[in-house]
Parts: sequence; structure tokens; C-alpha cells
Amino acid sequence: GATPTESGSAAAGGTDYGLITGGTITACSDVPYPPFDVLDSNSPIGYSGFDVDLLTAIAKKLDLKVAIQVTNFDTLQSGAALLAGQCDMAASAMTITEDRKKNIDFSDGYYDSLQSLLVKTDSGIKDINGLSGKNVGVQQGTTGENYAKEHAKGANLVQFSDDGVLWPALQGGQIDAILQDQPVNFEHEKADKNYKIVETYKTDEQYGFAFAKGQKESLRKAVNEQLKALKDNGEYKKIYDKYFST
Ligand code: ARG
Repeated sequence: GATPTESGSAAAGGTDYGLITGGTITACSDVPYPPFDVLDSNSPIGYSGFDVDLLTAIAKKLDLKVAIQVTNFDTLQSGAALLAGQCDMAASAMTITEDRKKNIDFSDGYYDSLQSLLVKTDSGIKDINGLSGKNVGVQQGTTGENYAKEHAKGANLVQFSDDGVLWPALQGGQIDAILQDQPVNFEHEKADKNYKIVETYKTDEQYGFAFAKGQKESLRKAVNEQLKALKDNGEYKKIYDKYFST
């Protein structure tokens, strides 16, 4: 049911989820984050990726459209952008963590993930113990940054607010390694054989769609229901295979 904080125009089905723009889910996302969230001129909404396509399929079942609002990841994961009402929710490959739950209500998990270390193939770096004195690139505010802080002993962490800058920095030699979500490093490994993932870390992460704590309950509930329906009817698997089939 609607809560007092939820207002806005009603969607086609008559359900008001307190959307910023009636009939459209305004979703914050930090791009580029391939294969989850990328700019795509061929997509009718200007963006595509696993998150974007999955959310679009969910929205379609609710008679809603999706508009992507590009937002810095650190302000998303802190809950600040959501609590400030910049978007109705976030679709940004965001890991569900206890810490984030202080400011964010998450959907059910929609993707299992893990961390990884990407280096130049001829760098001689074999594992996380070989990073002492090396420049290790991470995206600010991510679980990869946290993992590097805890485990990459002696490394010089280089924090980037934009994930899209990590890959060119590795290719340009400003950094020696990238520690981030495995599927994203895997995109780079596939694209350029001079780079390889030398280690993965089973961090048991799950991505969830994110909502301002306590403020978007009817929308979160509807998203969860449709996520389950898409898993049950095989549509989730189709979208998954489009991005992750080997
Ligand atoms: N899964 C990681 C986290 O939640 C990284 C997500 C980064 N997402 C992005 N769109 N840049 O911390």
C-alpha cells in the first residue's frame, strides 16, 4: 500500500509507486560498468546491460518505462542520492551489504558476484601478495575497494570515482592492477589478451536493486514480485544468457 511519503501521478495500472515521473521508473546508475550498465545508442532508452535490461523487463510487467539517471557510484552506495530523491531506485550492480542497509532497502538478489584481480599478462604479478609497492586501481566506494584495503598488503591504492577510467589507466601504465567485480574485469580480459585475471575471490556477493530506506516500499515490493515472475517464466534466464553465456 501507499505510504504518506509516496505521491505522484498514477501509472497505467492505477498503482502509484510514488514515482518522480508518473509512468516511468527513474533509475540511478553509474555508467560505464559493462556488462551491467552501459551507454547504448541502439537502445530506445539510451542504455543497456544486464541491469538495465532486467529492470526494463520488470518495469514492462508493471506497465512502466525506465529512464536512466547517470549518478556517481559512491553517492549511490552511501544512500545519499536515493535519500535526496534523485531517482526512484538504483540499478548499478550494487552489492547488498549490511553496511549499506543502514540507508538502503534492497530488492531480492538478482546476480551472484565475486571479486578479481586483473593485471598485464607480462607483469609478473601472480596474486594479491605480489602487489606490495604496486599501484592498484579501485573504484571509490565499492566492495572491491574494501577488499583491496583489507587484503592487498603494502599496495598503493589508487581510487577512481569513475570506474570507466580504470581500464584506460591500466592500459596506460598508471596503475599495475585493477581489483573489482569479476564480470567487469572479465570483459577487459576478453577484449585484450595482454591482460588477464590472475585471481578471483569468492566474496559471496549478490547484487540488488536499491531504494531509499523506508521510502519506496510499494515499488520495492512490486519489483521483487516481477523479478520472481521473470525467474519463474524463463525471461530472466534469457537476459542472463545474453550477457553471460560463454
Ligand atoms: N558490486 C560492487 C559494489 O557494490 C561494485 C559496483 C560498481 N557499480 C558501478 N555501476 N560502477 O560495491
